[in-house]
Amino acid sequence: MASTLRRRPARNDSSESPTPRAESPVKDGEKVRVVHHRPKARKRRTTAIFLLGSLFGIIAAGFFAKSNDLIGFPEIGELSMDSLFDVLPAGLVKDMRDLVNGERDFLDSYDAFSVGLKVRSEGLSAHNPIIMIPGVISTGLESWGTSNISRPYFRKRLWGSWSMMRALVMEKEVWKKHIMLDKRTGLDPPDIKLRAAQGFDATDFFITGYWIWNKILENLASLGYDSTNSFTAAYDWRLSYPNLETRDHYFTRLKCYIEMSVHVENKKVVLTSHSMGGQVVFYFLHWVASDHGGKGGDDWVEKHIDSWINVSGCLLGAVKDVAAILSGEMRDTAQLNAFAVYGLEKFLSKDERAEIFRAMPGISSMLPIGGSAIWGDLDSAPDDRPGQEHSFGSFLNFRIGQNWTTPDKNFTVDEAMKYLLETTDDWYRDQILGSYSHGVAHTRADVEANEADPRKWINPLETRLPLAPSLKIYCFYGVGKPTERAYFYRSPEPGSITNLNMTIDTGLTQGEVDHGVIMGEGDGTVNLMSTGYMCNRGWNIKRYNPVGVKVTVVEMPHEPERFNPRGGPKTADHVDILGRQNLNEFILRIAAGKGDTIGNYIVSNIVEYSEKAKVYDDE
Ligand SMILES: *[C@@H]1O[C@H](CO)[C@@H](O)[C@H](O)[C@H]1NC(C)=O
Ligand SMILES: *[C@@H]1O[C@H](CO)[C@@H](O)[C@H](O)[C@H]1NC(C)=O
Ligand SMILES: *[C@@H]1O[C@H](CO)[C@@H](O)[C@H](O)[C@H]1NC(C)=O
Ligand SMILES: *[C@@H]1O[C@H](CO)[C@@H](O)[C@H](O)[C@H]1NC(C)=O
Ligand SMILES: *[C@@H]1O[C@H](CO)[C@@H](O)[C@H](O)[C@H]1NC(C)=O
Repeated sequence: MASTLRRRPARNDSSESPTPRAESPVKDGEKVRVVHHRPKARKRRTTAIFLLGSLFGIIAAGFFAKSNDLIGFPEIGELSMDSLFDVLPAGLVKDMRDLVNGERDFLDSYDAFSVGLKVRSEGLSAHNPIIMIPGVISTGLESWGTSNISRPYFRKRLWGSWSMMRALVMEKEVWKKHIMLDKRTGLDPPDIKLRAAQGFDATDFFITGYWIWNKILENLASLGYDSTNSFTAAYDWRLSYPNLETRDHYFTRLKCYIEMSVHVENKKVVLTSHSMGGQVVFYFLHWVASDHGGKGGDDWVEKHIDSWINVSGCLLGAVKDVAAILSGEMRDTAQLNAFAVYGLEKFLSKDERAEIFRAMPGISSMLPIGGSAIWGDLDSAPDDRPGQEHSFGSFLNFRIGQNWTTPDKNFTVDEAMKYLLETTDDWYRDQILGSYSHGVAHTRADVEANEADPRKWINPLETRLPLAPSLKIYCFYGVGKPTERAYFYRSPEPGSITNLNMTIDTGLTQGEVDHGVIMGEGDGTVNLMSTGYMCNRGWNIKRYNPVGVKVTVVEMPHEPERFNPRGGPKTADHVDILGRQNLNEFILRIAAGKGDTIGNYIVSNIVEYSEKAKVYDDE
């Protein structure tokens, strides 16, 4: 019953408790009246459900409600919620209370299913089969090991569930042992087996109540999708991309699934990726055509893929990945706004976090790509704004005269990457250099040659789009949420017990520097240069897009609701955007075969920034 335990409450949330509201904005600028009447009997339960928006909400429910208010509340192995509270340190409980007090009144102010129903009422319906490729971290990972150490966790999620929180709090070493891959092979350590959860369950909710893909699923269902014409291709995001195939045959399965869908539905598929899923798709498109991969040939994509909807893609990486891997620092950051990360912050030291991230080579696929050409040199960066005191190009900054362990010069992104690879262990370097490449190819001949080198397949500046003239790509990404762009680092306190040579200088707040971090533009996680460059400029360069695949860009300005922890219908946050109303509407239109009604919409300065990038079109 393990699998039903954690899911039941989530189901209840969405199927039995329509959130009450009067009016809900549907699309920017447009209002539709939707009124729901909620039976009184549900009221008490609903009070608790308001709290379910985040981890804190859930924990709070335990404080503020009697446990029988929370029908089907998850049991954690033999532990009930109550005993989880007993083991949580008092400080954490207090922190959660504080956080929750700010979020208690939140009311989810837009309707489930409404976008789907609206689009359906316009006469649209399910057309192409749709396959969803989730992002990093958001897929649950289940233990399948049968050795003594793993048995208590058999088929429990050690990532993305209450079991994870329990294991992290109560058996940290055991949890770490499971969650880290073998350093040398990058595969399972001896006697340990973790696998990506499968099916829609893998990514609909992260922890009870914290939706990831569920809103999209609700809307797709309203349009006529179900498990026969839609599919979540969940993967173990800890693995390097080559190892996704080596261990799980992930790309082979994806290829077979797509071929089967085309066969039974007699229509090409729509791929929808989020975040790192965009890089996985990009890699797949190379793999599938190549003789070194799926051997599908150059026309495979043309024959099988109708469109690729690329939400919050990070094809050029995210600079914060450097901080995570270099010094284990994530601050308020990381992909899931608060809670997995919150657990990590509280229970694992920076050293441990850096070690864990390094032992998940998949995470390193998001290290920034393009070096100085995209991210700038010490004096200037393409995305610098006028009047800026510090150029973003000076990416890692150190104070002069700090002669303990920090370097004696500031680093560009390029230099920071070199430093990272020089100072980390051999096993890490071997994994990264063996799997990925972060440079720029300046000629057409280089780009064509790189098609035969799997290490280049994640890099859109070294390889090209598939030779599929009727493929359509849609880039949907958030803008207007401050995003980490450069850092000030310092040596750790003298005498502190750490293997790390540096830590973010959180004591430094001055001018543009806020607690050691300089913010730039983006979606809160991924920088604008990464989300925007290829879509707006890169694929106008002939060598990167030789057959002229059509790329449509819609930027989504971040306009969060103030008291809604998930931001509401107009959020453009990296993850919460999956619940945004116009994003959902666009996905449905494309799936219904009407993607051609969507036009470009650009509000940021990305075009100007892109022109300053040192990547040239020589042809
Ligand atoms: C596993 O547990 C059993 C019973 O507790 C014990 O006899 C056995 O030695 C253990 N095996 C290992 C590899 O620890
Ligand atoms: C640099 O290190 C040396 C030896 O550890 C020490 O004597 C000196 O004061 C340090 N200088 C600065 C500026 O911290
Ligand atoms: C790095 O840049 C900062 C900010 O411009 C400057 O204050 C500092 O002296 C530089 N550090 C080094 C080691 O050059
Ligand atoms: C720390 O710095 C020293 C000297 O620069 C270097 O040799 C060492 O590899 C660094 N260690 C780590 C863990 O970065
Ligand atoms: C996907 O979208 C992101 C931005 O949202 C962009 O960085 C990336 O280049 C896009 N990739 C493709 C193939 O469209």
